[in-house]
Amino acid sequence: MSELVSMEKLVSLCKRRGFIFQSSEIYGGINGFWDYGPYGTTLKRAIENLWWKEMVVSREDVEGLDSTVICNPMVWKASGHLEKFGDLMTDCRDCKARHRVDQMEDPSLCPNCGSKNLTEPREFNLMMKTYVGPISDEDHAAYLRAETCQPIFVNFHNVRIASRQKLPFGIAQVGKAFRNEINPRNFTFRSREFSQMEMEYFCADEEAMEWFEYWKEQRTKYYYDYLNFSDETLRIHKHDELAHYAKAAVDIEYQFPFGWGELEGIHHRGTWDMSRHQQYSGENLEYFDQKNKSKFIPTVIETSVGLDRTTLAVLCNAYDEDTAETQKIGKAEDVRVVMRLPFKVAPVQAAVLPLSKKLSEKAEGVYNDIKKQFRSEFDITGSIGKRYRRQDEIGTPYCITVDFDTIEDDTVTVRDRDSMKQDRVSAGKLINYLNDQVK
Ligand code: GAP
Repeated sequence: MSELVSMEKLVSLCKRRGFIFQSSEIYGGINGFWDYGPYGTTLKRAIENLWWKEMVVSREDVEGLDSTVICNPMVWKASGHLEKFGDLMTDCRDCKARHRVDQMEDPSLCPNCGSKNLTEPREFNLMMKTYVGPISDEDHAAYLRAETCQPIFVNFHNVRIASRQKLPFGIAQVGKAFRNEINPRNFTFRSREFSQMEMEYFCADEEAMEWFEYWKEQRTKYYYDYLNFSDETLRIHKHDELAHYAKAAVDIEYQFPFGWGELEGIHHRGTWDMSRHQQYSGENLEYFDQKNKSKFIPTVIETSVGLDRTTLAVLCNAYDEDTAETQKIGKAEDVRVVMRLPFKVAPVQAAVLPLSKKLSEKAEGVYNDIKKQFRSEFDITGSIGKRYRRQDEIGTPYCITVDFDTIEDDTVTVRDRDSMKQDRVSAGKLINYLNDQVK
């Protein structure tokens, strides 16, 4: 993470450049809900696609699933969410602030106003409730999923039979999850509606620790290789306290401006979920191993990532300001804000900027060529300096300038976002040139 980034600067850039907006902003917003603007949507989708390619498309042992947000409420009874999925909370009687007890440094003092006039801590369930059908009574109550993995467990046999997979294999899904968080905070980091990317890997119990180590390594590598995170900003945090059914758990954490925060959990979930669903549904969820002629409930290793948190970490990681002489535009003290987004996830990978409106026909031709391969933008509005600044804030790795020489010799200027180096390139070889740079 750049030392220059503060959440205040980032939130302001996200709004200004159309990455992230407050949900229903014209009505004053709604706490814990966020909308992604044009560039934010593309960035988030690119991160999701990278994950999906890495975890599903490029593997033979992981299948995809896209389940509903609302399931039979028995799913949440079996998973334990209805009985116990919450936090202890307390209210300050003086300033009316509400707090999660586990997040208070001194649980006897209000962190907001310092008062000791707090209510007794009480359990608060995070499941979001709704009603299915026209009658709003308990018989028709249903819940928005609090994690995307439970529908994976209940579809184990459906997916296994349809895909003809044998153990070990995984099922992955990306989708929305909802939690009625007591204190949503730190921008999108803790939201009430968010997306998860989860993969449940089913295996024999005796192989589970090996798979746990394998997935820990794979998932850590992903952040270095694809998202350009470094040792300074990424760490693995081993859980000291484990759920009663779990044998091992680690979190992959990123250093946000507000401190270290969890991006992903790798969990050895034992046979807990599958056993509970077998017990509550009355269906046999055992796996028959033909080689050993044995029947058993599979053990599960889970990799669970927050897509919004990863997107936020990518944005924090990309934020930079530079004041080098060559980058000054206008006033001497001008500072360039630049989002150094990795090429693979940048919402705009190349922008075509004609120097004059008279060049727009030629520039459109260049744009039409490159947009077939790269996420591209055509921008003709404002001075060239301002257009560069705008693309720097969006994080566009390459700006292609079409000038009057282009008409003469069919060459364009390619400006590299990070080095600010400019190359003169033949328009016909532009796609090859960009491909080479990316390599
Ligand atoms: N199936 C396991 C599970 O859901 P979790 O640690 O509760 O585990 C997994 O959540 C990931 O989902 C977290 O690492 C985080 O990235 C993301 N996540 C959880 N709660 C979130 C929230 N309120 N807002 C945004 N992301 C959240």
